Amino acid sequence: MVNTAQRISAINVHFFATLEGKISRLQASGKDIIRLDSGSPDMPPAPHILAALNESAGRSNTHGYQSQRGTARLRQAWAHMYRSAYGVELDPEEEILPLMGSKEGIFNLTQAYIEPGDVVLVPDPGYMTYRRATLFAGGELYDLPLLPGRGLLPDLQAIPADILQRAKLLWLNYPNNPTAATAPLEFLVEAVAFARQHGLLLCHDAAYSQVTFDGYQAHSLLEVPGAKEVAVEVNSLSKSHNMAGWRVGAAVGNKAALNALFRVKANADNGHFLPVMDAAVAAMNGDQSWIAGRNEIYRQRRDMVIAAYRQVGLECMVPKASLYVWSAVPAGWSSADFTTLLLEKAQVSLTPGTVFGERGEGFIRLSFTDSTERVAEAMRRVTAVVGGL
Ligand SMILES: Cc1ncc(COP(=O)(O)O)c(C=O)c1O
Repeated sequence: MVNTAQRISAINVHFFATLEGKISRLQASGKDIIRLDSGSPDMPPAPHILAALNESAGRSNTHGYQSQRGTARLRQAWAHMYRSAYGVELDPEEEILPLMGSKEGIFNLTQAYIEPGDVVLVPDPGYMTYRRATLFAGGELYDLPLLPGRGLLPDLQAIPADILQRAKLLWLNYPNNPTAATAPLEFLVEAVAFARQHGLLLCHDAAYSQVTFDGYQAHSLLEVPGAKEVAVEVNSLSKSHNMAGWRVGAAVGNKAALNALFRVKANADNGHFLPVMDAAVAAMNGDQSWIAGRNEIYRQRRDMVIAAYRQVGLECMVPKASLYVWSAVPAGWSSADFTTLLLEKAQVSLTPGTVFGERGEGFIRLSFTDSTERVAEAMRRVTAVVGGL
């Protein structure tokens, strides 16, 4: 057999790949598993988005390769979205780069900047692609603990000087996966000043910025004056417009960083299918009012989960945004054992916090991305099992 590259030997099998196998076996034995472990929205995009896709796909001249930077209309639609949602002005030619989903941008941006010996500052717990992308590039990780006592915001001033000397990228993600924490604008201001002071590229992941509740509005990092000089933000229609499978994202902000990212990604993909871009334009330029209705459905599910958790003493905060409830496991349990218990006894699949880093130990993540009825049924099963412990 031909040996694989050393590069991939450091990357262990993705948690969800292993989980899929386990769930398939349970389902094959007749078990009805409710999956609240992944952050893929269960509801479809609004009808006008689907109509735009169909209309474009029905034309004969929409099926070829497209510009790797996406259509001008797509970049302008992102600019429109940033202006209307955050009051941020972006140059569609130089400050917006369409992505095949934000995950692709996170991965390729890291390849553009990191080489062996470089340090990447990542939230712990945090979305795993920041970590895996760093390991692929041969870089080193430095964990920034997200502690409840600090509002799940990292303590930037606690990063040691020798780490800062070797650090190139600082990843932040608010609203946060997995903790559902949100960041006040003052923290983002502090992060921009910190990145400037230490010569870091500040990378903000805003994938959940339009999934918000109770009147909360998430911030774009680019609302901070001068942020474009030191920062890139990745964003996506996956969660904002229920389009996770469509792979539509964008990196926005610092021009030099977007150029570096483009030099990597242009070698790996050939851009989007034009009808997908046309539909994304319809998503961002068209009516946005349905998003509030969608968020209201998520809010009802969130409240159902919180009520059930409280009933059996599972501690959690009430999230103002994201698709998740992050909660502590009962005393004496590890995250992995507790999620295994719930999978086997309640047939409800949740994600152990340890998937997101060492500081995830003692926590589990529930994603309210199945129908309201299924979330209700899952909570009946979970309370029965946890109540009987
Ligand atoms: C924090 C965060 N960033 C990025 C992504 C990737 O999203 P996409 O590639 O669909 O835009 C996810 C997906 O779950 C996420 O949780």
